[in-house]
Amino acid sequence: MQARNFSILTYGCQMNKYDSEQIAGILSKQSYSKTDDLSEADLILLNTCTVREKADHKVLSKLGRLRELKEKNPNLIIGVCGCIPQVQGEAFLDRSRVVDFVFGTQNIHQLSEMISEVKKGKRVARIEKEPSEALDFSGDALLRESGYQAWVSIMTGCDNFCTYCIVPYTRGRERSREPDEIINEIKILAGKGYVEVTLLGQNVNSYGSDLSSPVHFPDLLERINEISGIERIRFVTSHPKDLSDGLIEVMKDAKKVCEYLHLPLQSGADKVLGRMNRGYTRELYLEKVEKLKSAVPGISLTTDVIVGFPGESEEDFNETEKVMREVGFHFSFIFKYSPRPGTSAMSFTDTVAEAAIAERFNRLDALQKEMTLRHNEALVGKSVEVLVEGKSKTNPEMLMGRTRTNKIIIFPGSENSKGALLKVEITQAGLYSLYGRALTTKESNHAG
Ligand code: SAH
Ligand code: SF4
Ligand code: F3S
Repeated sequence: MQARNFSILTYGCQMNKYDSEQIAGILSKQSYSKTDDLSEADLILLNTCTVREKADHKVLSKLGRLRELKEKNPNLIIGVCGCIPQVQGEAFLDRSRVVDFVFGTQNIHQLSEMISEVKKGKRVARIEKEPSEALDFSGDALLRESGYQAWVSIMTGCDNFCTYCIVPYTRGRERSREPDEIINEIKILAGKGYVEVTLLGQNVNSYGSDLSSPVHFPDLLERINEISGIERIRFVTSHPKDLSDGLIEVMKDAKKVCEYLHLPLQSGADKVLGRMNRGYTRELYLEKVEKLKSAVPGISLTTDVIVGFPGESEEDFNETEKVMREVGFHFSFIFKYSPRPGTSAMSFTDTVAEAAIAERFNRLDALQKEMTLRHNEALVGKSVEVLVEGKSKTNPEMLMGRTRTNKIIIFPGSENSKGALLKVEITQAGLYSLYGRALTTKESNHAG
């Protein structure tokens, strides 16, 4: 068969990254090879996100730029998949003549069929609203980006319907994978040399309640902790309302579970949390944070915050600022509220003025930067365990790796230590990365 190249541009969250690895797996079984150079591709897929309006814009402007490539190479096939087509349906085909086919989050397994139809000159749309049973969840079908760190989907969908959020409409209802399937996949990964797994789900804390024999998330973590070869376990995302004492216990006792938790706060004001349908209060959130901090010393907590949700007053916003300060997050993703068609918050008319949203955003951003830098500076002089990911993108002379607390460390070293766990002494702290020097090498680790 003729050799062909594909590129995938992935937008949005880890779910999309995982789906892209699945798509890459399907294509590489079809004599397609992956390329990052778009001008060399015969097939370009945009795996899209629609969580905020800006995410939609990014995709449309990228499509505009791809028009030129298509003019140069009329055989180039362009497909759009993921969350935008899932909510916009077939109509998305009409938005851009550049696009040959679109498919939703539940149609990935039909990719080969769609490509064959496009080659016959058709424009194709496949958007299934019902969850797909046909999806190959075995994990072996994935073409993973990294050889050391793997995303493992443990559940899909979300049942929470936070009033601002489109995700329940793009991903459907919660469905958990059987624990044995997950364990098998991770054992296979460990056998291939993977050392870190990140378990994926929109709300991992409610994992397993939909299974015919219900399982709790902490029990799943305990089982993964037993798998030899795996050294680090992470998971995203945790919903504060479902974060149990059992999970905190396992985070404390299971050695491989990292001292890191992303716990979206969204707002620190009870009135706003109520209107967001988050299912917890400020007090409950802070109580859980306290328990986490005392059970897991040195835990790095990160969060998501939305500013300018309808009805957010200056006092409400001040509450959020206070909670952020009190928790002392290591990092925050701060978002300006973006109304999403189809979500229930669209009906809230008490919107916050643009200028106030911008001002609040800047205040939180400045606060977070100050807190991040303070946390990072506290690490100078300490030695930490780093999983080497490869060359640093910003500084290709150096290596880049991550600590168990998910901080980026840049340090000199040889590329053959990719995938190794090294001890690194931190010598300097920046805002987004820290610098250091390795105290061990891959070889000395093996010897020990
Ligand atoms: N399942 C995860 C992530 C959902 S999307 C969770 O529950 O936390 C990631 C983040 O995007 C959310 O945590 C929220 O902070 C933000 N977000 C979602 N919808 C948004 C909207 N309409 N406007 C602004 N931010 C939004
Ligand atoms: Fe969206 Fe809320 Fe579900 Fe997260 S928990 S994906 S914010 S609806
Ligand atoms: Fe975006 Fe879809 Fe994830 S909307 S945040 S890519 S689930």
